[in-house]
Amino acid sequence: MKDVIVTDSILYVGCDDKDIDLFESQYHVPNGVSYNSYVIMDEKIAVMDTTDPRVTEEWLGKVEKVLNGRTPDYLVINHMEPDHAGNIQKIAEKYPDMKLVSNAKVFTMLPQFFDFDLTGRTVEVKEGDTLSLGVHTLQFFLAPMVHWPEAMVTYEQSEKVLFSADGFGKFGALDTEEAWADEARRYFINIVGKYGAQVQALLKKAATLDIAIICPLHGPVLKEDLGYYIGKYLTWSSYEPEEKGIVVACASIHGNTRRAMKQFVEMLKEKGEEHVVFFDLARDDMAEAISCAYRYDRLVVASSTYDASLFPCMEDFLYHLKIKNFQKRKAAIVENGSWAPAAGKLMKAYLEGMKQIELVAPVVTIKSTMSEKNKEELEALADALMA
Ligand code: FEO
Repeated sequence: MKDVIVTDSILYVGCDDKDIDLFESQYHVPNGVSYNSYVIMDEKIAVMDTTDPRVTEEWLGKVEKVLNGRTPDYLVINHMEPDHAGNIQKIAEKYPDMKLVSNAKVFTMLPQFFDFDLTGRTVEVKEGDTLSLGVHTLQFFLAPMVHWPEAMVTYEQSEKVLFSADGFGKFGALDTEEAWADEARRYFINIVGKYGAQVQALLKKAATLDIAIICPLHGPVLKEDLGYYIGKYLTWSSYEPEEKGIVVACASIHGNTRRAMKQFVEMLKEKGEEHVVFFDLARDDMAEAISCAYRYDRLVVASSTYDASLFPCMEDFLYHLKIKNFQKRKAAIVENGSWAPAAGKLMKAYLEGMKQIELVAPVVTIKSTMSEKNKEELEALADALMA
């Protein structure tokens, strides 16, 4: 794992996890994930969050190494989700004089996860409270529902460092060479996407701070061009499309709907649409399909009818969009059914239940395989989407 430099006195002690099969038991992370943790060295020493229990020994070893014989005075807990809070009891038992610093909601949750005596060990902070470490001063800001109710962020005033909890995190271990946006978007939309309003509230608080460095709990420490990252968060949390483009999301049983939609993708490209992204929902990464639906301004859903309902991967896709507050897009629907097509009506009901979704054309109905009439309907559908 490569060295991560924050500043001379703020030291990175996080760990990469490249063996995890599914993050949160649901997200593929082909390049792993990092659980970030930091130690602030000063007259008093603060450890900023712990890590997932999957890396306990490695993390405790790193903390011990940077402490160089000293003991930490504080553990600041910004977030109680186990990928960050998983080692609270371990470090609390290792350093019995260390105090735990966090807000009231965290201290309510702690005994639900752990079984150790908190008597005399907690320092409860409220919105805007500060804690001096010597040269460094920590200031605490509550970040409810970003993306748990107890979440908070910590701003270090002397070096202008924001410890942003899950905010500005991404999938991918730290030695992964990849652009930030794609895996940060897939992380944000799928994990925090439901809570756009709460993220906007946190960004408003952050706008009042002079921030030089962002230290998230996943992914790289951000030191340059912070406006770029904040801009992406402003867009994602407002549910506005990031750019022009069409996502074609397809749920096909025997391949006929898939073939029709592949031809539809070619129609769109021939008509001059620059960004068309196709997803076979039965096979492609669902989290990526959801993330891409947020990225672009138009969405086409195409599904076979199955047991008088939707083919399950389309149901799953639309369910996720609904619970992640998908909105503000143009959309179109294509259904297939060999004897009693029902998918179109069901997809329409999903989309009509979301805010500001504009259906650009009537449902196109394919009966088993695409007919010449269907081709004409899909040409018209492409024109309507591109109008
Ligand atoms: Fe990375 Fe909400 O935990």
